[in-house]
Amino acid sequence: MTSNSTATAAATTPTNPQWFRQVLGRYPTGVALISSVEEDGTPVGMVVGTFTSVSLDPPLVAFLPAKTSTSWPRIQATGRFAVNVLGASQEDICRAFSSKTGSKYESVTWHPSESGTPFLEKAVARLDCTIENVMDAGDHEIVLGRVNTMDVASMDLPLLFLQGGYGGFTPHSMAVAGPDLARELTIVDQARPHMEALAAKLGCDCLIGGKVREEFVLLASAGPGKTDWLSSIVGQRVPAAAPFGRTAMAWADDADIERWIDASQTMSRFEAHSMLDGIRARGYSITVGDGEFGPSAPDADAREFIDPGDEVIGSFLGQKVKSIAAPVLSPDGTAVLVLSLYGLPSGLDAEAVRRCTEELLAVTRHIASTALQNH
Ligand SMILES: Cc1cc2nc3c(=O)[nH]c(=O)nc-3n(C[C@H](O)[C@H](O)[C@H](O)COP(=O)(O)O)c2cc1C
Repeated sequence: MTSNSTATAAATTPTNPQWFRQVLGRYPTGVALISSVEEDGTPVGMVVGTFTSVSLDPPLVAFLPAKTSTSWPRIQATGRFAVNVLGASQEDICRAFSSKTGSKYESVTWHPSESGTPFLEKAVARLDCTIENVMDAGDHEIVLGRVNTMDVASMDLPLLFLQGGYGGFTPHSMAVAGPDLARELTIVDQARPHMEALAAKLGCDCLIGGKVREEFVLLASAGPGKTDWLSSIVGQRVPAAAPFGRTAMAWADDADIERWIDASQTMSRFEAHSMLDGIRARGYSITVGDGEFGPSAPDADAREFIDPGDEVIGSFLGQKVKSIAAPVLSPDGTAVLVLSLYGLPSGLDAEAVRRCTEELLAVTRHIASTALQNH
């Protein structure tokens, strides 16, 4: 062995901490704030990348604090901890809590969980745990916690850590998987380049979804992520109840439509039928409004235009177009999938809205005549 190769071997041994970090740094992790409250009411916390789920029955999770951590002994003394999985927009919180100096809780909003541990506002997942076991693990410890309560406080995507840097899932193209979606996902794969091109051309985001049995599944998104919640709703399944999925239902058979209206909490039979008639006559659906609409209920508060005439389009020019949706129609005339535009530029005039709609319809027709032919 030459002296050169000896040096290389030494540099790439697991006992070389830099090399260990470099190799293990290729494995991405999420980032979680482990928190608790001391007897005198002082909140304490530290950021870890080692949080992991362990067991379903009983519900156990774990994380690995370094033996050098000054926060961990204080958390351990409380006998419990909360896990707050940080969202992509909470990098500043991560920095504050991974520092050994400074007032960590100064810039965060939290409230006590049922047991009193700090639950952070807008954390993507929160778990309150009792310390079940602490095991020795070299220069770290393994802390096993039993989960008492858990919730989801935000639909944000999680913050990720990889090779010493922060990041997130790219919202450009995400798709859901599922054994019952094989046919839909094959079509989505073929539709994706057209969705990307459409989103780039119109400067908006594009969502594709479909009705699978008695649910609407949000299958994939494409575009620059102007609608920040859009990628986070991919994978959601919304029960088939009016008005959700109206663009698909406008081309459904009568029995399906009746079931869909029966399941509605908010729409009368008359309202639902006139909405569907409008969408079918027009060939697409368009909603406007400025209110926030959450990921769990896209378009819940958006107003559907019943009449597609120029006068109506003229009357909403002062408002923001929230979405335009069109069906991908199969040869038997049912809507296999629905393509929707979100995050359209504000202040579009009637001509621009019409152009966006025409581009959308051209893409849905193209998908119908290409991707659908093989299925
Ligand atoms: C992304 C990231 C992941 C981390 N993961 C861990 C971890 O798993 N275990 C740990 O002890 N420290 C981890 N740290 C470091 C601690 O956050 C930090 O050293 C410590 O909590 C602050 O010191 P203190 O515990 O003495 O207050 C991580 C830091 C960052 C930025």
